[in-house]
Amino acid sequence: MASKTWRRRHAAKFRNAYATLHFGDGPAARPYRTPHSALRTNKILAFFGLPPKNRRYMIDFLRKIWAFVWPYRRRFFLGLLCGTAYGVINGLLMASVRIVVQLVFEGECDLREKLEHAPHWIHPLSEPLAALIPTMHAPPISNHLAWILIIGLIPAIMLVRNILQYLSIYLTNWSAMHAVADIRTKLFSHLQNLSLGFFNRASTGDLIARITNDTQVLLGIIGGTFASAVKDPITIVVLVTYQLATNTTLTLISIVVFPVCIVPIVIYGRKVRKSARAVQQHNAELTNLMHESFTGNRVIKAYNLEETVSAQFRATTKKYVGQMMRVIRANEIPSQLMELFGALGVSMVFFYVVNVPKLQQPKEADFLTFVLSVVLIYPPVKSLTRLHNQIHQARAASERVFELLAMKNSIPEPVAPKMLHADQADLVFENVDFNFGDKPVLRNINLKVKAGQMVALVGASGSGKTTMANLLLRFYDPLRGAVKIGGVDLREVRTADLRNQIAVVAQETILFNDTIRRNIELGRLGAREDEVVMAATHAHALEFIAQKPQGLDTIVGEKGVSLSGGQRQRLAIARAVLKNAPILVLDEATSALDTESERAVQAALDELMKDRTTFCIAHRLSTILHADVIVVLDQGRIVEQGRHDELVNRGGIYQKLYDLQFAS
Ligand SMILES: Nc1ncnc2c1ncn2[C@@H]1O[C@H](COP(=O)(O)OP(=O)(O)OP(=O)(O)O)[C@@H](O)[C@H]1O
Ligand SMILES: [Mg+2]
Repeated sequence: MASKTWRRRHAAKFRNAYATLHFGDGPAARPYRTPHSALRTNKILAFFGLPPKNRRYMIDFLRKIWAFVWPYRRRFFLGLLCGTAYGVINGLLMASVRIVVQLVFEGECDLREKLEHAPHWIHPLSEPLAALIPTMHAPPISNHLAWILIIGLIPAIMLVRNILQYLSIYLTNWSAMHAVADIRTKLFSHLQNLSLGFFNRASTGDLIARITNDTQVLLGIIGGTFASAVKDPITIVVLVTYQLATNTTLTLISIVVFPVCIVPIVIYGRKVRKSARAVQQHNAELTNLMHESFTGNRVIKAYNLEETVSAQFRATTKKYVGQMMRVIRANEIPSQLMELFGALGVSMVFFYVVNVPKLQQPKEADFLTFVLSVVLIYPPVKSLTRLHNQIHQARAASERVFELLAMKNSIPEPVAPKMLHADQADLVFENVDFNFGDKPVLRNINLKVKAGQMVALVGASGSGKTTMANLLLRFYDPLRGAVKIGGVDLREVRTADLRNQIAVVAQETILFNDTIRRNIELGRLGAREDEVVMAATHAHALEFIAQKPQGLDTIVGEKGVSLSGGQRQRLAIARAVLKNAPILVLDEATSALDTESERAVQAALDELMKDRTTFCIAHRLSTILHADVIVVLDQGRIVEQGRHDELVNRGGIYQKLYDLQFAS
């Protein structure tokens, strides 16, 4: 009975230990189980006063980072190995300094005896070492070679030590660079595949900051912190052990103050945790401000907003600097305190030396190696005091990176996709409702477009025309109902397959900062030169391209700034012409053109629309008079539907629009 209770209690403990953890609180949260090693890490972290929630995040963070280092583990471990050897060789350096100093000044070296007479508790370490070291006497002064070998011992060990240090830094940084490059690329590709809905909510500056700046912080932790976490404790242990074995009393006196150092490390570690995330956020705000003010510079100038945006930038920078200074303080104060404690330790040693009888005073060689090891111990101790804070900083940055990586696409790809043949297929909106957030945008849309027909969408601004086109491209999924092509629900086909079969001229012309040729070619990558020229001709773009000194090789500038609105639109049309897809979506495709060019481009578009199912959105009714179906939208509902003549005679909204535009 008792054993049953025991088992139950321990089973509960076991379950708790393996409790399911979640990262993030969004829909992307994925459960996983805490492995054994994580429980061990848990205990170590508890020692540093990390509360359980933070411990959980810390393990999660290290686990995620490690997954990216894993492909480069060989060089990474080799780097750590070099770091370990570097730590050990520091002890060798100490020993060689002692040997050289004693042989030069005293004529013989007592290192072997020193090690043999080390305190009992250090014997397991000191005895095997003593066995390796012979009792040494200085060679005669005439034996130049022997003296060169003895004195050359220090630079030779120094050389090996520094080569190891270089290799350790190089190899761990090599792995870190590659791991971070992978994180960046994965993040970038992941973002490319997220839905338009995600980009509507996200801010460009924040995304850029996460890919560039936040991942940069991770570089520091993998390349520096992980390596230092291995190398520095080894260096410290080796040096302290060597000193304990050879200068027991001096060492014990000097390290008595060291445990006190843990206090500032823990206190400032807590402070850094709070500020680190704020630093990354302010940095993202700054990137965002820069991005918006540079891309929207025309408006800033036109409305004299220069001072306003500068003031905004100044205020954010101030907040950033404030938080950053807290991080710097938290990093620097403990490490400076370490030096103070170190100096206190050394002064205690002096007190000891002054107060002991002359005979018991340490020898010069003892004192020299003691001081040297204090000097050598400082850098690793200092970097270890920063380690705690650096991990917190990196965790704050990594949270922002992994949050994005865990974000799921709200437009899921079907598990078993169906093939889509848009050619000769009807296009149907079936009882479609759609919301942006809580705001109803489309209600009960029922529309059937036969293969090869042209459907025109008209209606007031904001009535939902572009949204219907966006549903057809599956930029969003309907809330209720379905959009089907050839009877296949768009949710059942691969988005790439769907979008391959639709050519779009969007309401807002988007050009990339590249050549005119490249901007057209994006319609169909790998298109031949004559096909690009043909598409440009169809879109009536060739005339203005020919006027540019560099023709098709003209760089259009960011978002096409060096072109007029109408010229940009013609390039967008050329791109759609080149794509030659069975479905065509024209959202105000000719709105920026003058009447004459519009007529010419329209003629080309009419030609293009032949035998293609076309979704044409227009405010100017002249372009859609001959459409097979005209759909009138009003506040997200279809209020009228039919051919031009029918609608004009019906006397509804369409007739009013028509009268307004053609009354004169
Ligand atoms: N990304 C978005 N987030 C939230 N609401 C949006 C978003 N895009 C559009 N809307 C809203 O949805 C409604 C329909 O927008 P839509 O772009 O479809 O209008 P439209 O008929 O194309 O107008 P226009 O003729 O001005 O282009 C509008 O009220 C708009 O405010
Ligand atoms: Mg629109």
